[in-house]
Amino acid sequence: MGGEPLYLAPRLGRGLRSFLESPGLPHLLADGLGSPLDVVVPEQLAANVEQFRSVYGRHHLSGQVFFAHKANRSSALLRRLAATDAGVDVASLRELQHALGSGFTPDRITATGPKNPEFLWLAARTSVTVGVDSLDELEQLAVLGRKFAIPRLRVLLRLSGFEASGVRVLSRRSRFGTPMKECETLLEAVERHSDVIDLAGVAYHLDTTSVTEKATALEGCLRVLEECRGRGLRPSVVDIGGGFGVDYLADGEQWERYTTELTAAVLGTRPPLTWGGHGYGLRNEAGTLRGSLGLYPAHRPVAGPRYLDELLAHPAASFGGRPLAGLLLEHLYDLHVEPGRALLDQCGLTLARVLEVRTQDSGGELLVRLAAKADDVGLEEHGVLVDPVVVPRDPARAAAGPVAVHLFGSLCLETDLITRRTVFLPRRPEPGDLLAFANTAGYCMDFHATHAQQQPVARKVAVWQEGGAWRWCLDDQYWPTASMGGVGYDMGGAQ
Ligand SMILES: Cc1ncc(COP(=O)(O)O)c(C=O)c1O
Repeated sequence: MGGEPLYLAPRLGRGLRSFLESPGLPHLLADGLGSPLDVVVPEQLAANVEQFRSVYGRHHLSGQVFFAHKANRSSALLRRLAATDAGVDVASLRELQHALGSGFTPDRITATGPKNPEFLWLAARTSVTVGVDSLDELEQLAVLGRKFAIPRLRVLLRLSGFEASGVRVLSRRSRFGTPMKECETLLEAVERHSDVIDLAGVAYHLDTTSVTEKATALEGCLRVLEECRGRGLRPSVVDIGGGFGVDYLADGEQWERYTTELTAAVLGTRPPLTWGGHGYGLRNEAGTLRGSLGLYPAHRPVAGPRYLDELLAHPAASFGGRPLAGLLLEHLYDLHVEPGRALLDQCGLTLARVLEVRTQDSGGELLVRLAAKADDVGLEEHGVLVDPVVVPRDPARAAAGPVAVHLFGSLCLETDLITRRTVFLPRRPEPGDLLAFANTAGYCMDFHATHAQQQPVARKVAVWQEGGAWRWCLDDQYWPTASMGGVGYDMGGAQ
């Protein structure tokens, strides 16, 4: 197998673990509904909202948690969310329609991202809060407001290009939002359109894991709010977007070891760890390591609500080093967050049937073909390296010990790789077994799903526990009445 197995075991919460360990349940569902199959756990989403809420409580902050809908298309998840006190951040016309139809009232919806005219119109007409992406969008909104005599529209101004005072720390470049240096023009437009536009606050979303960059942006927003007050405007919201992250791995040491060995493999000092010499951004230039590892930091002990906690405790350099939370509280500003991935932590998994297992060439690695396409399991696309769990068809089968495998999809394309890396599994998978890819609900389930080669896209089921038994229904049949004491199919006592 080429050395010790390099596992990247998934972090499995109680819910996902119990589902996978329910005798026969994953196979029963995949037999009936096909492979791939997406499984979502709506109750976990409600629990995750509570975790974010508790951070607000700890810092005595008010405001709203908005789920970034783009991370998953599920109706079950959205409908369950509607039964909590959270809101939803929608980024397209269809997402807005979905939110309205799932039970969200407009005061619990924020429309973000650049918008086409239809999306902007429905957002305006239904009076949801609009995260304005540019001056042009603000002007369009003002025209709509006047033309259709819509009540004053609540807007958040999305800003970008923040700069820390003193040291030159620039926040990441973004093609979204209005650059800070154009903020003045934007505020003038808000004043000009005050008959139809109501400035609720300011916003940012940064695609970075850096707390410092986000703190710089939050400070920038606080300064803009001060300036607004100086102009007689009364905005009270700071929306800090999403990007709180997820810890995908059970064991941080495995991650350290894996990345060290991957580097060695790129340098040629150990056997390869990927298909076709892929380096995940690293390359060997005449014995020197170049490039940078283009991977999601799969081991992130400070992720989700803990990341928010850390950001809020971060000292604001331009406000005398006081913690950001204290500054928000002092001004009675509402804090809005828009987590996508983090709110979906442990909310789902993707099952894929093993179709074929064979050996090829030297190396001893097994080629495993799955009844799923790379698009159906977006972990690799998102740079998240985590092992699947083997769910054997026959649990009594003797485990034969660790194997190294390459996981391929079902498309007739060389590039249809479920993983580019060699995956180490504690037991050899056999045709008929299932591989369970845990924690795919955030972006890795349906974000990239296609009908390529007329292969089916995954069906989706919602699962929940009732009286110790798992119950399920098709995603679009789910309403909160099900998992909160209503109807569902009993799995015949599967525990
Ligand atoms: C405006 C906005 N808010 C929230 C999010 C959600 O980010 P994440 O899923 O990383 O929390 C995104 C992601 O692209 C976004 O663009």
